[in-house]
Amino acid sequence: MDIKGIAAVVTGGASGLGEGTARRLAAEGAKVTIFDLNEERGAAVASEIGGVFAKVNVADAANVQAGFEAARAAHGQERVLVNCAGIGWAEKTARRNSKGEVVMHQLDKFALVINVNLIGSFNCAAISAAGMLENEPDASGRGVIIHTASVAAQDGQIGQVAYSASKGGIYGMTLPMARDLAREGIRANTILPGFFETPIYEQMPPEVKVNLASNLQFPHSARRRNTPTSSTSWSPTTISTPNASGWTPARACPRNRGRRFAPKIRPRVERPGGFSCARHAGRARPARLGPDMMILKTLRGALKTRKRRGAGVRIVRSR
Ligand SMILES: NC(=O)c1ccc[n+]([C@@H]2O[C@H](COP(=O)([O-])OP(=O)(O)OC[C@H]3O[C@@H](n4cnc5c(N)ncnc54)[C@H](O)[C@@H]3O)[C@@H](O)[C@H]2O)c1
Repeated sequence: MDIKGIAAVVTGGASGLGEGTARRLAAEGAKVTIFDLNEERGAAVASEIGGVFAKVNVADAANVQAGFEAARAAHGQERVLVNCAGIGWAEKTARRNSKGEVVMHQLDKFALVINVNLIGSFNCAAISAAGMLENEPDASGRGVIIHTASVAAQDGQIGQVAYSASKGGIYGMTLPMARDLAREGIRANTILPGFFETPIYEQMPPEVKVNLASNLQFPHSARRRNTPTSSTSWSPTTISTPNASGWTPARACPRNRGRRFAPKIRPRVERPGGFSCARHAGRARPARLGPDMMILKTLRGALKTRKRRGAGVRIVRSR
């Protein structure tokens, strides 16, 4: 899809990844409408990129509907929706506080995160898709929807139960949404970003940031963290790749650089000659296979090849 001249809506476009995406799409010639709660910042970004701002709470259905009406009145029916509006929340499912009392997760906070991140993303997508159905199809269809989940959709940390549930929901709805809309020529994709230097990330203490960056698999450099600008190539790439639909590129996505998280970020130990950290205990799956697993994999491969060639397989039991 040619981005030049098309109408695009970016939720959460007043800050971070959404702002980076709105700027990038505008630079490539799209007419961008920003939906955000932050009126001052959203309006400022919109005016800088020659776009439109609508104050929208993505968790409020009437608000979202009004936002799309305003966007369409200004730019016509959008062909692109990028969902970036999102919030975080850190709380354990249940825990003991410092006095030894049992405290459970606040249900209203769990519901808030689901409402904003998951239901907000779904509702924006459904309203946008309904409008896109009226678009004349071009060579690559009627429109593209891009959601923003997180590595936490698959590797939630301690205290991320609400956030991970919301992002896991986005991850899960991507494929059925892509299938729902495929016949109409509308594509749906989701990115699972790792860590980006947005306002949320900047609030973290420096040692936590160093730890997170140290877990990058490739490119392995704590000095090359992702900036919101480095995230923005994903949307234009997805929009202009006609067969990109139902994608949830996780591990393979350069955005999170192959990261797997342990359940808890452990403090790093400084050793002569550099840092080292004992982080494997409790990890969901090691990034590299151990020697036993390698031998098992090689044996299984050899057996499969023999079977394929019609050769018999004889198992010899050693005493
Ligand atoms: N920064 C990261 O490292 C990172 C990693 C993985 C996933 N993400 C996801 O990327 C998305 C963007 O995050 P970010 O880092 O740019 O954060 P950010 O805080 O910089 O931007 C989020 C924007 O969403 C807006 N927003 C929040 N609630 C809203 C609501 N109810 N209605 C409308 N707008 C609302 C905020 O005002 C803000 O402008 C989020 O969904 C986040 O979960 C971020």
